[in-house]
Amino acid sequence: MTELLKINGDIFEIFITEEQIRGRIKELAARISDDYAGRIPIFIGVLNGSFIFLSDLIREISVDCEIDFFKLSSYGDAKISSGQVKLLKDLNCQVSGRDIIVVEDIVDSGLSIAFTKKIIEKENPKSLKFVSLLLKKGIPKIDFAVDYVGFEIPSDFVIGYGLDYAQKVRNLKSIYRLSPQGTVKPE
Ligand code: IMP
Ligand code: MG
Repeated sequence: MTELLKINGDIFEIFITEEQIRGRIKELAARISDDYAGRIPIFIGVLNGSFIFLSDLIREISVDCEIDFFKLSSYGDAKISSGQVKLLKDLNCQVSGRDIIVVEDIVDSGLSIAFTKKIIEKENPKSLKFVSLLLKKGIPKIDFAVDYVGFEIPSDFVIGYGLDYAQKVRNLKSIYRLSPQGTVKPE
């Protein structure tokens, strides 16, 4: 496993390893499976970032379940949020009367998850809960709880395991964060 990565002149350091992610997902999945015993929840992944987390999470879920996807965009290619959320792909499933679990890669400003909540609540689900692999501590401006959180992290920019930097590096198996060593000086 590479400890340091240099991308677009920025240095990223290993932050959460593959093994740590796998272990935490097992714990989250066990809790969710217990909480949803006898029900058939629909896991709704928020594209693009959540697709790897969602696929690993549902393989640890022991109750019957369905999946669907939303596609939202707020970051563009930047390291900070544009502050605007756009719906790029709507749901296909019937939400009304169903147990919905929204799956996010990370909750940063909280704008995306708040937007998602509004859209889903309009469709009258039987229940609605949120799971996010990462939650940036103290940052999200939301007035509701994220029900299942993998890791609470500081507000650093992180990449890998689905999270992109200008659309790339989603395929990294571990999560890396922007190193305090910062930006590489031009040689
Ligand atoms: P929000 O600011 O909570 O609305 O987060 C919006 C989306 O931006 C998240 O679902 C991620 O896909 C992406 N995002 C937020 N923080 C990071 C980060 O540190 N690295 C990469 N993507 C991020
Ligand atoms: Mg996302």
